Amino acid sequence: MTLLELKDVTAFYGPVQVLEGVSLTVPDGGAVGILGANGAGKTTTLRAISGTVRAGGSILFEGKDIRGSKPEKVAAMGIAHVPEGRGTLGGLTVRENLRVGAYLRRDRKGIESDIEYCLDLFPQLRDRIRSNGSALSGGEQQMLAVARAIMAKPRLLLLDEASLGLAPSTAKSVYEAIGRLRRESGIAMLVVEQNANLAFTLVDSATVLETGHNAITGSTAELRGMDEIRRAYLGG
Ligand SMILES: Nc1ncnc2c1ncn2[C@@H]1O[C@H](COP(=O)(O)OP(=O)(O)O)[C@@H](O)[C@H]1O
Ligand SMILES: [Mg+2]
Repeated sequence: MTLLELKDVTAFYGPVQVLEGVSLTVPDGGAVGILGANGAGKTTTLRAISGTVRAGGSILFEGKDIRGSKPEKVAAMGIAHVPEGRGTLGGLTVRENLRVGAYLRRDRKGIESDIEYCLDLFPQLRDRIRSNGSALSGGEQQMLAVARAIMAKPRLLLLDEASLGLAPSTAKSVYEAIGRLRRESGIAMLVVEQNANLAFTLVDSATVLETGHNAITGSTAELRGMDEIRRAYLGG
């Protein structure tokens, strides 16, 4: 079943149009990648879904058009956005950040057991549970940003460049944890990533954006086999 479907989505910053018709489909429980150079419109595509940029076209979530919905409403429907730059709260501790992620929930026991799950998924956070967000390393902040999103119990996770600025080994362990989350929870994922090698460890298919529109879409295996993808995104 299809969970999310974008059809000819456009987006604007003021009068400037930056998406010119982006289409993609995320199956229920599936993971789909968005690749592309800097400025191609990857972040804006996620913002169009989460309601933080003015958008046209249609954005169907569970068959309902959510385009133009307010960000709080989109979040309440089960879409959690891990933004570029992470957006963890520096003045709050790790545990407080996790509780903030669950602010729409009322099931106290479920919240506590999901905090445990997050700390199991990212053991480094357990060691830092009382630390302020601002005291964490870049990798720990990224783990916290993902964990906080999980705390909302979403059906769909929007991930924006989770590997950005991280050492390769840290980026790999973040993606391994997200892969485990995917297998264990069935949460669907739309994954923006410039590092296609990492993205391909997680996603089943991907679309490449070029200046605000889809250039190439295919399964991970198809994309890996294409010379232009290998040259541009896989280092040879
Ligand atoms: N807040 C903004 N105001 C105006 N233009 C923006 C803003 N954010 C991004 N853009 C422009 O929109 C285009 C797409 O940006 P973005 O979605 O951030 O690309 P990507 O995430 O693929 O690097 C770029 O040309 C960028 O300069
Ligand atoms: Mg971006």
